[in-house]
Amino acid sequence: MARCYLRWCRVLICVCTPCIFLALLFVYVGLTVCMSMRSMAAPAFEIMPKSPHFVANESVRNNNLIKEIRTFWENQCHKKAFWNQLQLDTDFLFHPILHSPKAKRLTKNSSFDDFLLKKSFSAVHRLNNMTYNVEELPERVQVFARYMQTRDYPVLLQPGGECGAQGKDEREPPLLLFAIKTTPDNFNNRQAIRQTWGQVGWVAGQKINGSGRDNGGAYVRRVFLLGKQNTKEPGVDVSELLKLESNFYGDILQWDFEDTFFNLTLKDVLFWSWFSHSCKQTHFVFKGDDDIFVNTPKLITYLQIQMEKPHVKKNMHNFMFGDVIGAASPNRVNISKYFIPHSFYKGLYPAYAGGGGLVYSGQLTRRLHLISKRVHLFPIDDVYVGMCMVRLNAFPTHNHAFLMFDFPKNEGKDPCSYHTILVIHKRSPNQVVKLWADLKHTQPQCRDVALRLDEINKNQNKYHCAGILKCLWAAVQAYMVFKFSGNWGIRTAYKK
Ligand SMILES: *[C@@H]1O[C@H](CO)[C@@H](O)[C@H](O)[C@H]1NC(C)=O
Ligand SMILES: *[C@@H]1O[C@H](CO)[C@@H](O)[C@H](O)[C@H]1NC(C)=O
Ligand SMILES: *[C@@H]1O[C@H](CO)[C@@H](O)[C@H](O)[C@H]1NC(C)=O
Ligand SMILES: *[C@@H]1O[C@H](CO)[C@@H](O)[C@H](O)[C@H]1NC(C)=O
Ligand SMILES: *[C@@H]1O[C@H](CO)[C@@H](O)[C@H](O)[C@H]1NC(C)=O
Ligand SMILES: *[C@@H]1O[C@H](CO)[C@@H](O)[C@H](O)[C@H]1NC(C)=O
Repeated sequence: MARCYLRWCRVLICVCTPCIFLALLFVYVGLTVCMSMRSMAAPAFEIMPKSPHFVANESVRNNNLIKEIRTFWENQCHKKAFWNQLQLDTDFLFHPILHSPKAKRLTKNSSFDDFLLKKSFSAVHRLNNMTYNVEELPERVQVFARYMQTRDYPVLLQPGGECGAQGKDEREPPLLLFAIKTTPDNFNNRQAIRQTWGQVGWVAGQKINGSGRDNGGAYVRRVFLLGKQNTKEPGVDVSELLKLESNFYGDILQWDFEDTFFNLTLKDVLFWSWFSHSCKQTHFVFKGDDDIFVNTPKLITYLQIQMEKPHVKKNMHNFMFGDVIGAASPNRVNISKYFIPHSFYKGLYPAYAGGGGLVYSGQLTRRLHLISKRVHLFPIDDVYVGMCMVRLNAFPTHNHAFLMFDFPKNEGKDPCSYHTILVIHKRSPNQVVKLWADLKHTQPQCRDVALRLDEINKNQNKYHCAGILKCLWAAVQAYMVFKFSGNWGIRTAYKK
């Protein structure tokens, strides 16, 4: 009896040991996969559409980043939408496996990219000229579609310095380049920026509470990005004044295209190209509009802190901070400035940082420049940057000190509120001048306030814990399924 019992025990051990090892392996693999997914998708928790400005009503509930990316690539989305079909065709032409000789040549020959982008236009027209007929699109989008093949507009005015306006005798590479989108007649905005947060040369940083770093400083440069004055709009011709301004300040970069809302994407693409040639040493780019206020001293310290973090080389590869809007769907209200019809673009937008003000690394700028040659222009500039980021498998990181939609609730009334932020959108030139003076004035009393992002970092940790628990639970569930479904399920799954 006892011997028999022992035999059963052995059989049990024989059968169960692999089971236990397999189970442990399963839990381990499950955990590893979950953790890596979590670290990739971390920004998903932070990005939620915050304002109806960019976002249609139906999308506000949808905050699932993973789903959104799949939608961006989903094939059925491409049917009957002009941009999607063009991009699908281009992706096919650039496919590294299907077209490897072409893909190789492409790294050497940059006019080849243009050639392929244009080729996708003829392919799409050939495929079905009813569905993608440009004439069916609304007027404004039609104009865009007609010119979206062209991006080689010549430079009309460019900065005197190699990479924007700069201070005298810089002793180290500049930390930051302000690249500000403006229009020819917004002279007041430019002047307010030059006198306040956009000053060039050596700029002192400001201690950020809670970080070990003391007041340092860094070199800053500035460039304004402009197109040609819109001839259809009434107003005086300022092109001669702009030339004088350019001679005097040396911070004007102007191209030969009409400065309209749907042409703003051209400024990004052409700026990246200019930057890649002229600004090799600059560490960061701040790209923003001309109606924002920037807390430059804190921004400088903040960026220096980023540079002192471990793995800085790897982090700079994908470094982009801003007010991230995730899972937004295109605006389908036909009277809106942001209106994009279904016949032009289908699917959700990829996560993107609000174009009012965002920071990215010089290294990422060069990568964006290269990838932009494979992505068709999109009428909305910040969405286009998001599309390029998806191609680079990079994601913008949300930062609560970047406010594109003003302070929440009464936060702005606090006398120290502007010390807690890095960027805020929608401030007039007069407000900018006043805010800058106030910032200096309240400096002694507000020295110890922390940036808004600090409280968020705490939340992030909470999310991480919850995430790990969820992963554990998922691994346990997976193990149960494995255990009870037997080998058969696994084998068929493997065969597939
Ligand atoms: C969004 O929904 C609200 C009501 O829920 C409605 O009043 C508003 O007009 C809608 N806006 C748009 C752009 O559809
Ligand atoms: C680059 O590619 C284009 C388009 O295929 C071709 O016309 C051109 O000759 C190529 N240039 C070089 C230098 O290979
Ligand atoms: C494209 O349009 C032309 C004329 O507009 C027509 O003759 C041709 O049959 C159309 N092709 C397809 C594939 O629909
Ligand atoms: C963009 O600029 C070009 C060149 O000036 C112009 O022809 C075109 O109409 C502009 N596009 C839009 C959408 O305004
Ligand atoms: C906008 O849409 C409404 C109804 O959805 C339609 O009546 C109107 O004509 C459209 N306006 C334009 C300019 O297309
Ligand atoms: C700022 O830092 C000081 C000392 O490091 C600390 O006592 C204070 O609580 C901090 N203030 C905030 C608002 O975090």
